[in-house]
Amino acid sequence: MENILFEVRNEIAYVTINRPDKLNALNFETLIEIKEVFLKIYESKEIRGVILTGSGEKAFVAGADITQFLTITPEKGKSFSEQGQMVFQLIEDCPKPVIAAINGYALGGGCELALACHMRVLSENAQLGQPEVNLGIVPGYGGTQRLTHLVGRGKALEWMITADMISSKEALNWGLANHVVSQAELIPTCEAILKKVKSKSPVAVTEAINATNGYFLSHKHGYALEAEAFSRCINTKDFREGVTAFLEKRKPNFTGE
Ligand code: COA
Repeated sequence: MENILFEVRNEIAYVTINRPDKLNALNFETLIEIKEVFLKIYESKEIRGVILTGSGEKAFVAGADITQFLTITPEKGKSFSEQGQMVFQLIEDCPKPVIAAINGYALGGGCELALACHMRVLSENAQLGQPEVNLGIVPGYGGTQRLTHLVGRGKALEWMITADMISSKEALNWGLANHVVSQAELIPTCEAILKKVKSKSPVAVTEAINATNGYFLSHKHGYALEAEAFSRCINTKDFREGVTAFLEKRKPNFTGE
């Protein structure tokens, strides 16, 4: 794998998104590699839990890779959204507990990746957010659904339509973070949680994950609505302006078209 580091120690799988010069932004190849890694984790008899993190101390994942939006069409946009949703669903449905160790920015697709994990442990410098409206799009990897489930509609919508960054303290207050610790304590805290889990029945742990995920099954239609909304946004001038402005390192000038 080119974009992911993967190792197993003491029955824990360490999955590290490894594109630090691009703040670990998720390009298509990385998404496929995440899928492959999780398929291995599903099958492994040895692995009892997963810690998912980003390389370096600046970012967990700063979003989907915006450069790939230069050539996207509304049709491709729908399948872009659906493919990401499918990979992140694989994480949410993983039979072994998955903890996101959020070591910096978790924005857009990075926040959505964290939301798909079963738990989130944040370093104090972590900043979360769904800033897609800055680009003229909506979250497309499940964020409209999972953020709403976690913090409720009012706060989720506020964050999504203002693109505000969420500090680690605010994330803890809203139940978005399980724990906030120093950067040095980030991985040890995740390991301590998984050490406790490893002493329990693997069958009961998997059943608890399945049953808890069952709570959300009635909302599945929302993911289809999200993929369609994402595709419609791709068809706008605002989207082209938002992406171009980011890549040209300037503020976008949206006209509502
Ligand atoms: N996609 C592609 N490249 C990205 C990226 C993304 N989502 N996020 C960061 N990068 C790249 C930058 O373009 C830059 O590359 P360069 O050195 O080749 O110019 C590099 O990562 C470092 O980012 P930079 O913006 O210089 O760091 P910063 O500390 O000034 O700002 C952020 C950090 C996270 C605030 C800023 O990078 C950002 O806003 N990123 C986009 C977040 C976003 O909108 N995500 C949702 C996408 S749907």
